[in-house]
Amino acid sequence: MKDNFKDIMQEFQFVTDIRTAFDDFLTLTLCAFGQIPGAGKSYDEDLYLQTIGKYKKDKAQHLFPKLLACLTNEMTERIGSDTGWDVLGEFYEANCTLKGLSQFFTPWPICQFMARSSVETARESRKNEDKPLRILDPACGSGRTLMAASRVAGPTHEYYAIDIDHTCAKMTTLNLFLSGIFKSETMCANALLPEDFRVSYRASFVPFGVFRIQEKEKSSLWNNLKHLDEARKVPKQRPPDLNPNKYPEGSQMTFF
Ligand SMILES: C[S@@+](CC[C@H](N)C(=O)[O-])C[C@H]1O[C@@H](n2cnc3c(N)ncnc32)[C@H](O)[C@@H]1O
Repeated sequence: MKDNFKDIMQEFQFVTDIRTAFDDFLTLTLCAFGQIPGAGKSYDEDLYLQTIGKYKKDKAQHLFPKLLACLTNEMTERIGSDTGWDVLGEFYEANCTLKGLSQFFTPWPICQFMARSSVETARESRKNEDKPLRILDPACGSGRTLMAASRVAGPTHEYYAIDIDHTCAKMTTLNLFLSGIFKSETMCANALLPEDFRVSYRASFVPFGVFRIQEKEKSSLWNNLKHLDEARKVPKQRPPDLNPNKYPEGSQMTFF
């Protein structure tokens, strides 16, 4: 029988807890996609070695490349299908969610519906502008809403995401990259706190790959949101509730 992502993940139950294995898979894969050209190693080599070093060579290390192969095959088989291709998000929802953070992801048909209506509205209101759309999901989960938006808007636009949970930020980064979206940034931050920043991941075509950003000043998403806040004169110490000024075009996906 053909290997699949879910079954290989289950093999980790004899090694560590599933959430840790899932998070380590994301870390290793993102490090592997950040190769220094010609050097045969990652910009994040130390993080890669530290993460893979937790697993025994003969027992579990070989499972990670198998997982990536299964993931890309399953996503490719499902791309454009009625059920979507969020293989990572479906696994995470069933096995790894942190209930205290309301980690329930939007069903695929609703993502498609929101994508069609929001992208159309944004296109209409910006029809005289010759700039790519900048599409943001400020509580992105697995990035499913943006994956659906990319099918409607296309890969030439810019896709931005925020999640307070680092595993979700990494999952969205990988989901967008494997969906062929090479102009994206996913930030791990509390979207309700102005200027909060923990870490961010930028995907690009040239240079090709995914790159971890550890300083907020180097993050275009953080800088863009900071300028938006300044332009709207949002007070620095805002109570932690949803701010309609910051995300004016809807609670789920917004355009800026
Ligand atoms: C209901 S899910 C929505 C996921 C995604 N937008 C979708 O449609 O499937 C909520 C996500 O918001 C994240 N979250 C909760 N509070 C947050 C905050 N203050 N800032 C950023 N992300 C937050 C959670 O970690 C979770 O992944």
